[in-house]
Amino acid sequence: MTPDRPRVFISLPLSDDQLAPLADYEVIRRTAAGPIQHKELMEMIAGAAGHLGSAVLAIPNEVIDAAPRLRVISNFGVGFDNVDLSYARQRGIDVCNTPGVLSDAVAALTLGLILQRARGIGEAQAMVRQGRWVKGAHPLPLGSDLKEKTLTILGMGRIGLEVARRAQAFGMRVLFYDLRGDCEAPPGADCAPTLDDALREADFLSLHTNLTPDSYHLIGAPQLAAMKPTAYLLNTARGPIVDQQALYEALKEGLIAGAALDVLEVEPPPAGEPLLTLPNVIISPHIGSATVETRDAMARLAVQNLADVLAGRPCSNIVNR
Ligand code: 8YV
Repeated sequence: MTPDRPRVFISLPLSDDQLAPLADYEVIRRTAAGPIQHKELMEMIAGAAGHLGSAVLAIPNEVIDAAPRLRVISNFGVGFDNVDLSYARQRGIDVCNTPGVLSDAVAALTLGLILQRARGIGEAQAMVRQGRWVKGAHPLPLGSDLKEKTLTILGMGRIGLEVARRAQAFGMRVLFYDLRGDCEAPPGADCAPTLDDALREADFLSLHTNLTPDSYHLIGAPQLAAMKPTAYLLNTARGPIVDQQALYEALKEGLIAGAALDVLEVEPPPAGEPLLTLPNVIISPHIGSATVETRDAMARLAVQNLADVLAGRPCSNIVNR
């Protein structure tokens, strides 16, 4: 009789090839479309030794309690605000993530959003489609150059550094502010002494920090009021870093010029979300890491993390040691 193989639950659609390192395990794959519901997650994770799923799938403590054999939660993504890390540690569960492999993709999207805000690409496209392109006329508000504009980056992790490199190629001045207070700017960039300085100088403010109790609503009414009325806010990190109600008020009152948000406090936004009524906001559906190459690299790293822990090796990207 062959002994029972440990079970792993994969709640994302990964390919056979990506899952190949898990050949020694009983792999339960979720095939249903649409987001996994709490009850289904509880049931599927109950007998599992490992779970691999989206970094935006909340794994509440009661789900952990329902899974007495669980040894590893492998996040498909760099974020880890979906799990209570110390509770998982207490229960002997390693939580792993996929840093590094998605930095380029998120940085590229961030620059795309900066360019979209600076040059009004979306508005220009709408003008053409709506037949408002008048030869020789200047019907749009003019865009702005990026050269010599200040990009303030909150967070000095891998993604923030990749954003800085790209912004410098456009001639932007880069100013960092790091919440942990250990700011060491790369060549050609500076560190702001205080958050207030970082905000006041920004022509573009881009958020690249983890969501933690310290960064929750880090950008609220007082911070938005400190910014230039011509400044743009970009968020490709986590929605709750910004107080969305305060952002709506600030945009409506012209305290800042606009925002580009790839993440929201509630995703997708509920019907009637006030931000969707404002013309100076663009919202994308959390696509920072969504390229073919990046998602493949994330899948392979998340599978490797899972396999490492189950084989008794520490995963190289543990976030709750
Ligand atoms: C998600 C992310 O993992 O990396 C992160 O932290 O938020 C994303 O890459 C993605 O939405 C896939 O579920």
